[in-house]
Order: sequence, then C-alpha cells, then structure tokens
Amino acid sequence: MTCVTQVVSAGPSELSRAAEVIRAGGLVAFPTETVYGLGANAFDAAAVARVFEAKGRPATNPVIVHVSKVEQVDDIASGLPAIARRLAERFWPGPLTLVLPRGPRIPDIVAAGGPTVAVRLPAHPVARALLDASGVPLAGPSANRSTCLSPTRAEHVLRGLSGRIDMVIDAGPCPGGIESTVIDVTTSPPTLLRPGLLPLATIQEVVGDVTSRPTVASPVARSPGQMTRHYSPLTPIEFAPDDGRRRVVELIDQGLRVGWLAFEGSQIAGLSSAAIESMPDEPASYAARMYDALHRLDLAGVDRIVVALPPEGDAWLAIHDRLGRMG
Ligand code: TXA
Ligand code: MG
Repeated sequence: MTCVTQVVSAGPSELSRAAEVIRAGGLVAFPTETVYGLGANAFDAAAVARVFEAKGRPATNPVIVHVSKVEQVDDIASGLPAIARRLAERFWPGPLTLVLPRGPRIPDIVAAGGPTVAVRLPAHPVARALLDASGVPLAGPSANRSTCLSPTRAEHVLRGLSGRIDMVIDAGPCPGGIESTVIDVTTSPPTLLRPGLLPLATIQEVVGDVTSRPTVASPVARSPGQMTRHYSPLTPIEFAPDDGRRRVVELIDQGLRVGWLAFEGSQIAGLSSAAIESMPDEPASYAARMYDALHRLDLAGVDRIVVALPPEGDAWLAIHDRLGRMG
C-alpha cells in the first residue's frame, strides 16, 4: 500500500478536507493531548482495516474509538456503567480511555472480535474539530508502526507512516507526550489495563479501588498494550541502575557511538562524542519529552541508547511501563 501523505495545518479548510478524507474511508493522523492518533471512520470496517495494515498492527490488538461528545458513546457502547459515567464526568475531555461493553455498530475489527470497546473523548482542540467536522467517531491508535516509538510530532508520524496514510494534520508537539490511561470498567472493581497520562491516584480519588492487574488469565489477550516489546526505538536500548554515566563511558571506550537519556544536572563533561538528551526530574515534564527525546537519539545514528532509570513511585508508573517495554 503506497500513497502520497499530505501534511496540512489545522486551519478550517484543511480540517474540512481531512474530514472528507475520513468520510471517504481514508486515514488521517491528528494531534491529541497525549500522542498523535491515526484516524479512520470507526463504523467503516474497510477503513479500520487500512489502519491495521498501515501500522503493521496485529489483528488481535483492538483500537480506541474517539468521540467529541459524551452522547456519541451511545452509538459505540451498549451501556455506560455508573462508574464509567462518574469517570467520564470528571475526566473527559482528557487522557482517559474507558473499556466498555461493545455496541452493535462497532465492527469486529475495531474490537479485535471481543465483547468490549475502548472509548476516549480527547481534549485537544484539533482532535475535537476533526471529530466534529467528520461527524463520525474515529478509530485512533497511536500513529506509529506497531512496536515502534509513539509519535508526539507530525515528523514522528511521517517517520513511520509516510506513504502509508493519506494525511497528517500538523499542529505541533502534543503537550502530554505519553498515551492515555486505559481503564476497564466492565470489571468490578475497574481494572487498570495501561497506566498513562492521567495518574492512577487521581482516578482512585473518584472510584476508590482499581485492580492493577487484569483479572483474566491472559493479560496479552486482554489488552495487547500490555505486550512486552512495544513503544521501542530501533536502536538497541539499555537501562542503567544509576545516572547512566559510567555505562556511557564504558561503551564509548569500547568504540561505540552512544546516546544517553540523562537527567538534567548529570555530569556531561568529557562526553562530547555522545548524543545526550537531558530530561527533567518531574514526571509530567519527563513524559512530555520522553518519546521526542528517544526519536532524536534514534535518529542520531548511535549504536546504543543508555537510559538513566527514573525514580520509583506512582507518579512515574506510566513512564516505567513504557521504558520497561523498550528493552
Ligand atoms: O492516548 C492514547 O490513548 C492514544 C491517542 C491517539 O488517543 N491512542 C493510543 O492507541 O494509544 P493505541 O491503539 O496505540 O493503544 C490503545 C490501547 C492498547 O493498549 C489496546 O490494547 C487497548 O488500548 N485497547 C483498545 N481496545 C481495547 C479493548 N476493547 N479492551 C482492552 N484493551 C483495549
Ligand atoms: Mg500505540
């Protein structure tokens, strides 16, 4: 499958062209407050099949459906349990995805044949404008090739999907930088399927107990976002138990070109041959920059990326989750 991928701005005429592409069964990558998504009409099984093909995504991994109004959930899910209603009222629009009982209009391919469907009402004004202009819910996985780094800029989308999708709406970097939190509300208590931009503690303030592991035998079948290798750079990556400097020096001495995902304030003197990204030590700021920094290191032509391991603690849960799948 090849096509010319148009890059457009988020002006009114570009958005109406993008909406036409969606209605005609095409693929449009769009910004959200988390990462760029790859949009297709969620009611159009053939369009969603193109999403899977463009991403190289296994058919066993269901996609999130995006809406711009809570009322639209009625077209997608066969009910909004009370706990889901509370979560939606409190956190939508925003970086929370709810797994709900699947409604009859959702094609098999969206739900990977399963009984549930994941729904999110994003906050990003361009995502909402595209949804409103299209008039249909958008199936929207992250706009990257399967298992690769997620995109937080239009350039990242093109890196993986140029020539495979019809259009990218470039509205600059995504502010959040890491994917939404996925909560299954068909279980009691609800189950955290993927930690993300909305902290678990904030969700627990509203619904109390949340199970952190799936209650079914196979986590992979339950939410393939929990697959082990995912979200990865192409360059081999390793994690240092400390700030990473010792390992960087060791690898340079072995003759390797090294990229270092370091923390601000690390001792970088004498490492002019390394490609260094200095990360903030506050988790939300780190998340906002993580994929972008890793894309840059990946493009720097290094042989190895060394990551200084972030601190433990709930606030770093989503970051540990993503880094933990990159090795
Ligand atoms: O922030 C985000 O969530 C971004 C933006 C574009 O909205 N989207 C995103 O989509 O990250 P994707 O497809 O890359 O990740 C969706 C996650 C996967 O872990 C998938 O397995 C899970 O949600 N998921 C989707 N539908 C599901 C379902 N019915 N049951 C369980 N997990 C589901
Ligand atoms: Mg993804």
